[in-house]
Amino acid sequence: MYDIQDLTRVYHMGRVGVRALDGVSFTVGDGDMVAIMGRSGSGKSTLLRQLGLLDKPTSGKIIFDGREVTRLSERERARLRLKYLGYVFQEYALLGELTAHQNVYLPGMMLGQKKVDYRARAKELLEVVGLGARTRHYPRELSGGEQQRVAIARALINNPRVLFADEPCANLDTISSRMVMETLVKLNHEMGLTIVFVSHDPEDKRYARSLVLLSDGTIEKVVMLV
Ligand SMILES: Nc1ncnc2c1ncn2[C@@H]1O[C@H](COP(=O)(O)OP(=O)(O)OP(=O)(O)O)[C@@H](O)[C@H]1O
Ligand SMILES: [Mg+2]
Repeated sequence: MYDIQDLTRVYHMGRVGVRALDGVSFTVGDGDMVAIMGRSGSGKSTLLRQLGLLDKPTSGKIIFDGREVTRLSERERARLRLKYLGYVFQEYALLGELTAHQNVYLPGMMLGQKKVDYRARAKELLEVVGLGARTRHYPRELSGGEQQRVAIARALINNPRVLFADEPCANLDTISSRMVMETLVKLNHEMGLTIVFVSHDPEDKRYARSLVLLSDGTIEKVVMLV
């Protein structure tokens, strides 16, 4: 699904350049669940942002479904993001004045789905993430782990091809973290969703099918786990 070729991302800070990614190549298969790991500053978030089309590499290519996406216009990339890619971040980013149900269906409304469809689909997705009994709760009435699972449901409303998660459990306790990770595993195993997640907890590799280990912006190793 993804073919990443010789990806480099240099951040320019005045005259100094930070080489956050340096010649990274690997592939992500359909139905894969990839863990990106490495020390703080090794380039994990930078890599995820390139794959998620949230940032552009300095050089190198990203082929998504046979199509080079690195050089598309910003408008075309935005369309691909909304239609095919889902994102979950460390800080949930739910809208406080909307209920769990409304938060989940908002991107479906934005993409122009029919109201009856996105409302029903949002309910279904909240069931999938184990929150069928929390649809009318506002974010402040939910635990951190529950908010993160609402964010996962929201990322799925437009039936993305890939789900990206950058340290989705960084703000959570052990039990909530496990529920969030098990939710991702369920989506991968039962619905065949391709998932790429970042974690700095080596234990989390038990949830993945393959592991990309970064070190100073380069790939130290790629390990197949199943
Ligand atoms: N917007 C930016 N401008 C300049 N340098 C940046 C920027 N974002 C990241 N960097 C630098 O690029 C390198 C990689 O950063 P990145 O955020 O990808 O690391 P990370 O592996 O996600 O780290 P962490 O585990 O702490 O989240 C770091 O040295 C960082 O300081
Ligand atoms: Mg990071």
